[in-house]
Amino acid sequence: MYKIAVAGTGYVGLVAGVCFAEVGHQVTCVDIDEKKVNVMKSGVSPIYEVGLEELMQKNYAAGRIDYTTDYKAAYRDADAIFIGVGTPEQPDGSANLSYIATVARQIAESIEKDCLVVVKSTVPVGTNDKVEQFIHDFLVNDVRVEVASNPEFLAQGSAVHDTLHAERIVIGTESKWAEEILMGIYKPFNLPIVSVNRRSAEMIKYASNDFLALKISYMNDIANLCELVGADIQDVALGMSFDERIGSKFLNAGIGFGGSCFPKDTKALENIARQNGYELRTVRATIDVNKDQKTLLYKKASKRLITFNGLKVAVLGLTFKPGTDDLREAAALENIPLLLEQGADIYAFDPVGANNFAILYPEGKNGRGSIKYVSNVEEALAGANVCFIFTEWGEVKAVKADMYKELMRTPLVFDGRNIYQIKDMETAGVEYHSVGRRA
Ligand code: UGA
Repeated sequence: MYKIAVAGTGYVGLVAGVCFAEVGHQVTCVDIDEKKVNVMKSGVSPIYEVGLEELMQKNYAAGRIDYTTDYKAAYRDADAIFIGVGTPEQPDGSANLSYIATVARQIAESIEKDCLVVVKSTVPVGTNDKVEQFIHDFLVNDVRVEVASNPEFLAQGSAVHDTLHAERIVIGTESKWAEEILMGIYKPFNLPIVSVNRRSAEMIKYASNDFLALKISYMNDIANLCELVGADIQDVALGMSFDERIGSKFLNAGIGFGGSCFPKDTKALENIARQNGYELRTVRATIDVNKDQKTLLYKKASKRLITFNGLKVAVLGLTFKPGTDDLREAAALENIPLLLEQGADIYAFDPVGANNFAILYPEGKNGRGSIKYVSNVEEALAGANVCFIFTEWGEVKAVKADMYKELMRTPLVFDGRNIYQIKDMETAGVEYHSVGRRA
């Protein structure tokens, strides 16, 4: 078993740390935020993620995981240090590497024995060469240190499961020594390992995410055409999915992809290409289609209604997908300001994301309109003139077609996630608009 330190306790770092502890390694998670460290020590997760708290508590009690702000103590005698800090998008679409640089310098100044530094954060191809050089430049003690790439493929909402049951582990190393350490760390997971060089590993991460994003934008593009020619995107997707070369996953048309990864990684890869004198046209198209798709429901509703002014608007779902409280790049964030500008009185329901949304859009009067956060779907729908479905939460999917008819003043529904069968909504007497299907 290895002594592992993890820098950064966001999605990537914390989940990795907890899962390493779960398979028996000795883990110390480092974060600069003392309050957050104390919260984690008490067994509370700073992020909403199914199953994470249970594992935090279990492994803390077993003494396999600890949390600290004292990076020196954590890094000093670690066999491996995993970096999972953020690489946020900069205004020009490139990745901000300043957090990685800070951690790299702290590592260089702290380690007292041979150590493998493993970058889990998504970084532009070639960054890990620079991280290694940077660490060597600042190294205080005479020890062996190398940098490996080990991109993360977990999805929010299923992060723990995705880590413990990953379809593959990708490791990018430049020496046998580094490869053996990483192979050893991942051995207890008993998962397929793809071992490549460092730059290829960095590229696998971007190429995978951007391919999935491309798949979504492609389906959205086809969905828009389906509406014009009278085809149904769900039937089309079903027909396509039997071809194993296409696969059945990530074919759901809707209101575009959000989250912290696809939007950022598409722009980052486009940027990497541009810096190398190449134009990635498929990725540009992915971004363009997604941008338009985000406000599709608002555009559809604007065609149907003369005004939103004074209308009660029910909003079901605020987060970028179910199972998370994350709002980053969520379609709701694009549509709600437009609705408020037009004087809509919004009643929003989200089982987990409402508090975060209220920080950005506090309850009450907002521009010409207003927003109120309600604790159940019924309250949102009662007396509403129109309903928007932005996130396919279980609570939303559980709403029967009849309920829209019964509760709303006018049963007019714009569904960005194609939750319902058109037939069911028709039978219930609901005017139903979705994506890529008959209006
Ligand atoms: C994504 C990838 O799925 C992970 O493999 C990757 O590790 C992660 O990014 C990352 O780089 O950290 P995540 O952003 O958590 O994970 O969420 P996804 O489940 O992939 O969904 C992203 C967006 O695509 C959501 O807004 C979702 O609604 C949308 N989507 C997904 C569709 O519109 N259609 C689909 O068929 C699938």
